Amino acid sequence: MIELKKLTKQADNKRILRGVELSIKKGETIAILGPNGAGKSTLLKVLATLIKPTSGHVLINGMELRKKQIEIKKLLGYLPHSSLLYDHYSPLENLVFYGNIYGVKDVEQKASKLVKDVGLSFFLNEPVKNFSRGMIQRIAIARAIIHDPQFLLLDEPHTGLDQGAISILNDVVLSMKNKGTTTLMVTHDFKQAAEICDRVIIVKNGKIVDDFRIQNHNLGFVTEKYELLVEGVS
Ligand SMILES: Nc1ncnc2c1ncn2[C@@H]1O[C@H](COP(=O)(O)OP(=O)(O)OP(=O)(O)O)[C@@H](O)[C@H]1O
Ligand SMILES: [Mg+2]
Repeated sequence: MIELKKLTKQADNKRILRGVELSIKKGETIAILGPNGAGKSTLLKVLATLIKPTSGHVLINGMELRKKQIEIKKLLGYLPHSSLLYDHYSPLENLVFYGNIYGVKDVEQKASKLVKDVGLSFFLNEPVKNFSRGMIQRIAIARAIIHDPQFLLLDEPHTGLDQGAISILNDVVLSMKNKGTTTLMVTHDFKQAAEICDRVIIVKNGKIVDDFRIQNHNLGFVTEKYELLVEGVS
């Protein structure tokens, strides 16, 4: 469960987040949509404990974020724009490294399985510096879930992925949802949002301007709402 109350973030006199109120239940899969510069990545970074909010409250499973950072960090899997992988390490070494930080049991076995799940077992021991963007993104996804996080924070996860990798990512999100994982996914890809998410939040100028459920993967509904609110088309 995630609760945001009157959340603001200010930097260089710019109000990036301007009073975000949000309540998310366990197991929800949420797409965060909005134009460039709206504050979506900033919102995710606050939740990922990477930046501090200026004011307001963030509660995760009832714990106040600024007081329980260490406990909360263990519950989170974060996939930012950059991969966070070590160039000279292989996929296996990268995943074992991150798995060890989180104290994952049988980490080598788990890491190998994840590399296989994302379709890269053939490259298990190659340094990732030789990988294409999509291959790196596949390993970055595996890295974000090595410790079975309760909350997945994905920033434009579909970028650079081919159709095969898109299905792998969507399957990962859906299978984690079945295990009770809550996912927040920032995206510009409305099709994928409608495919895997059950709720959409639209952010504009640092505020949530709409929050609704999607049924039957209704892409048209999402596009219509977005155009109305963000682009002023009706
Ligand atoms: N550390 C910072 N200092 C000053 N301004 C910042 C900082 N971080 C972000 N911003 C500004 O805050 C606004 C929101 O940025 P953010 O990265 O959250 O947008 P976004 O919604 O993720 O956009 P995009 O769709 O382009 O990824 C932008 O105007 C950005 O320039
Ligand atoms: Mg962003």
